[in-house]
Amino acid sequence: MIETLPRVVAAPPGKPVREGAADGQARARRLAQRPESWDRDEAAGMAARFDAAAADWESDRGGYRRPPLADALARDGPFGPGPAAEIASGTGLLTSLIQDVWPAVVAVDLSPGMLARARAGARVRADASRLPLAAGCAGAVVICDGPLFAAEVTRVLAPGAPLVWSNALGRGAPFYLATELVTEALAAASGRPWRAVQSEAHWGRWAVLRPV
Ligand SMILES: C[S@@+](CC[C@H](N)C(=O)[O-])C[C@H]1O[C@@H](n2cnc3c(N)ncnc32)[C@H](O)[C@@H]1O
Repeated sequence: MIETLPRVVAAPPGKPVREGAADGQARARRLAQRPESWDRDEAAGMAARFDAAAADWESDRGGYRRPPLADALARDGPFGPGPAAEIASGTGLLTSLIQDVWPAVVAVDLSPGMLARARAGARVRADASRLPLAAGCAGAVVICDGPLFAAEVTRVLAPGAPLVWSNALGRGAPFYLATELVTEALAAASGRPWRAVQSEAHWGRWAVLRPV
């Protein structure tokens, strides 16, 4: 069950095209569908790539990252209590938006270089495939352009709590996953159906997914 809301935040001209987005999306689909294919070497390579990107991340890519998440949080509430787990939190560009809804945020990222630039939330260096979080502890999981390890997401979510998913460049984002695929991965991991509300905002797309 996927409900699509009409767009309210227009897309300005000038959307960037990311070279390598197709390769990134193939990896994103593989990790969502076959998480066991992720290994230590791939994790090290991913962390090194983002360590190298960290210094210029916000100046190069910061300008357009907030509108899709802001739209999701404004339009698909009200939400239950936190804390929230922000997975793939990067330099923390989006953490304050999440704190507006859930004041307590645990911000998790694999890259020490990205995480070192973050200031908000309780920052934890960890791999999303093995979250150092207790089962059922999170009032929400928020993933904005990060990998989906659905078994970990469903493990840490409290009963009935949502996954908030966004891709700042929508179908052009290296971490883009179609809402159908996110829903299927969560259902396979949890053994129960999930429903989603989705929309587009600025250059991106978002979905809020909840167990049925
Ligand atoms: C495209 S950036 C997005 C950062 C932030 N969410 C934003 O929108 O600015 C992807 C982030 O995912 C992190 N990441 C990639 N794989 C990860 C994993 N397995 N566990 C935790 N973080 C991961 C990277 O280190 C990087 O900071």
